[in-house]
Amino acid sequence: MTSPVTSSTLGAFARDVLQGLSADTPELNSKWFYDARGNALFKQIMQMPEYYLTEAEADIYRNCAAELLQAIGKGTFDLIELGAGDGSKTQLLIERFLADGATFSYRPIDLSATALAEVRELIELRWPTLDFEPLEADYFEALDRLGKSNAGRRRLLLFPGANIGNFTPGDAVALLGRIRSFLKPGDMLLTGFDLKKDPARILAAYNDAAGHTANFNLNILRRINRELGGNFDLSCWRHWETYSPDTGAARSFLVPTEDQKVTINTINRSFNFRAWQAIRVEVSQKYSLREIEGMADAAGFNFVRHFQDRDGLFTDSLYRVGG
Ligand code: AVI
Repeated sequence: MTSPVTSSTLGAFARDVLQGLSADTPELNSKWFYDARGNALFKQIMQMPEYYLTEAEADIYRNCAAELLQAIGKGTFDLIELGAGDGSKTQLLIERFLADGATFSYRPIDLSATALAEVRELIELRWPTLDFEPLEADYFEALDRLGKSNAGRRRLLLFPGANIGNFTPGDAVALLGRIRSFLKPGDMLLTGFDLKKDPARILAAYNDAAGHTANFNLNILRRINRELGGNFDLSCWRHWETYSPDTGAARSFLVPTEDQKVTINTINRSFNFRAWQAIRVEVSQKYSLREIEGMADAAGFNFVRHFQDRDGLFTDSLYRVGG
């Protein structure tokens, strides 16, 4: 007899999959997209012409360094990045900070050891003497550790790449509030937000002609098969994207083209999916500048200013801890 699988005996991925697929409207959290293959697929997305977010934020980073330094004021500070990715955009900011004579440490935080190894390689190659300490951890565990060890230096936190958009607006404010609780008066947070714009442009960014986004989203089923012993037949699933200009939510779904029974060994469960009954997989929330200013307030920050790219597609918005 096999022992019953309870959620407490499972790892976090298995637990989330069990809970998400058992819901009335099944869902899978997009944070599980990023295994090694998912990271590589996301890099492809970032280079697609339709995915304007990458170049828009790079444009901002190239132009906002001097004003950021002014806002931070004199003295050494810690540049802390939440979700380092491969560091390719942040190097634009580091380059300009160094050219302006700023003294700072760089502390990228990421759960992925591979991502941090790529950042290390880049930093060691370009700025071997930069005070650099990557942290392989959950954001909050890392912020807690950093809070205890930063010797009273001010902190500039980067939360780049519209990662905040992968939370619903309510969860995003809760997350910002939680980040706020680790900071001290004078600390600053620079967050990337994708802006509301022509719905056709947004839809195209998440529904590219070459099918990279479809492949990226379907990878979560591949990951369940590989890591949890599932038997999703990927040829029976389609990627579907919607964008609602009223709420600003771009949503991704995985839709089965026929009825199917899927068994996932690790969680000891089978799921019957009916044709065309979708699994929700990702939200990529778009905001207005006003909404972003309101979120600062709601999360206990003072709004400082927006830095926008030249086409007004994206903003990196600066919040400060008052007091
Ligand atoms: C990581 N995140 C900000 C991306 C986004 O735009 O929501 C993930 C993504 N999903 C599909 N394309 C890109």
